[in-house]
Amino acid sequence: MRRIRIFDTTLRDGEQSPGASLNVEEKVVIARQLERLGVDIIEAGFPISSSGDFDAVRHVAESVRTPVICGLARCREQDIERAAEALRSAQRSRIHVFIATSRIHMEKKLRMPPEEVVENAGRCVAFARKYTDDVEFSPEDATRSDLDFMCRVIEVAIRAGATTVNIPDTVGYTTPEEFSRRIRHIREKVPGAADITLSAHCHNDLGLAVANSLAAVDAGCDQIECTVNGLGERAGNASLEELVMSLRMRRDIYEADTGIDTREIWATSRLVSNLTGIEVQRNKAIVGINAFAHEAGIHQHGVISDPRTYEIMSAEDVGWRGNQLVIGKHSGVHAIDEVLRQRGYNLEREQLQEIARRVKETADREKVVAEEDVVAIAGVVLDELSPEERLIELKEVSVMTGNSFTASATIRVTIEGRDVLGTGTGVGPVDAASHALQQILRSHVGPKLELKEYGLKAITGGTNALAHAHIEFSDESKNSFRGEGIDEDVILASVQAMLRGANRALNFKKLALRSANGSADAAKAEPS
Ligand code: KIV
Ligand code: ZN
Repeated sequence: MRRIRIFDTTLRDGEQSPGASLNVEEKVVIARQLERLGVDIIEAGFPISSSGDFDAVRHVAESVRTPVICGLARCREQDIERAAEALRSAQRSRIHVFIATSRIHMEKKLRMPPEEVVENAGRCVAFARKYTDDVEFSPEDATRSDLDFMCRVIEVAIRAGATTVNIPDTVGYTTPEEFSRRIRHIREKVPGAADITLSAHCHNDLGLAVANSLAAVDAGCDQIECTVNGLGERAGNASLEELVMSLRMRRDIYEADTGIDTREIWATSRLVSNLTGIEVQRNKAIVGINAFAHEAGIHQHGVISDPRTYEIMSAEDVGWRGNQLVIGKHSGVHAIDEVLRQRGYNLEREQLQEIARRVKETADREKVVAEEDVVAIAGVVLDELSPEERLIELKEVSVMTGNSFTASATIRVTIEGRDVLGTGTGVGPVDAASHALQQILRSHVGPKLELKEYGLKAITGGTNALAHAHIEFSDESKNSFRGEGIDEDVILASVQAMLRGANRALNFKKLALRSANGSADAAKAEPS
């Protein structure tokens, strides 16, 4: 039986999903669960792209021991050095180097003649090999690249020491038959290709990412790149759960296995959905809440007499848990730990204690706290800022709303100790509160923030349900800052989320200023 390696890129390509940004702690929690799930490689980030990505790769490399930890790099020495630095403490590390090979990317994006692309690919793969003997090379936009040219670049990369060659369908353009022909051609015609691992990386713009990845396995790829819940740029990447279950359910066709413990799939899917704030669509294969539900009477009858009539796999095969535990004010850290573990959270003791404290606080008011509430509270604890990072603190918020006048809000905060008041109006109370906060930011601290995303979920039923708010601000340079908030009061949950986003933006600005001043000081100190 062939063994297909699962290369998970949820933390890198998945995180490039609009609205899916994760902080370092959240990435580490997801990486630990990916380890439990049994993925072979975790692509933890693109270290040169930001200090957050660098830290995430470094922390994942320190915390996760079994899978190979991979960092992405463009074909540039600086990118590769940064990736190597972030991966320094990994048990096993991989550097993933990419450069585009399609005409449109070379002309319009790289502005580089083809010969230079060939030269760069060879030089950078060889440079990456100085840091690790596990180097992956990707010709970006491979499926729109001239076949012979792409093969030439791959040959050069293999000669320079690439141990895995990944074929990305960057814009989700190919079809199963066409992709399969390309993969076979590489395997058969490129010198050295039979001795390295061939990999596929498919995007879902035409809804074919999983089908194309399976075609690639059939054509000889031994590694597939995918993300949990199919997260990723635009329409996403190939979904890990769909690929793994397809290989498992159709062993008769693919004659291949993965190292995935499928009973961890559901927990992983929930974890990623909770931490990114991106809901899984109800009818999503494998992990949607309708995936194992039977509505029609004729189906229900069949399933009751023998589940195999309408189910090709069981909910238990993917670790689906229907039963909800109820947590009360007497539940201890262990019960909370158990609930969270079943949802993929593997947390530090202090984090658990803080979650338990907040769960108890909620239980004192609400009597019982459902599993979903515990998970949402965990999400907020993981999103917590340190006391030094809390530059703005909420003191008071009041809103007026009704059907015959414009909603208005007043917010009082302290900014680094100073008392500041802001007012705003809007189409509703949340909009008004957002304007009041933006007024404060504009007049007292500077960064012009635009509310790019706002999501609100009532976690348990009823009018006193806990509300979970999720926001994303964007500044003038398109940096995004997110925040979570949870409260019985929708407005307070929303304001808390906005304050966290605003604090992140301020900290970012402060750090940028400090490093600009640092380089100015360094320049002053340079002998003239
Ligand atoms: O889609 C793509 O081409 C990528 C590469 C960096 C592999 O994500
Ligand atoms: Zn991609």
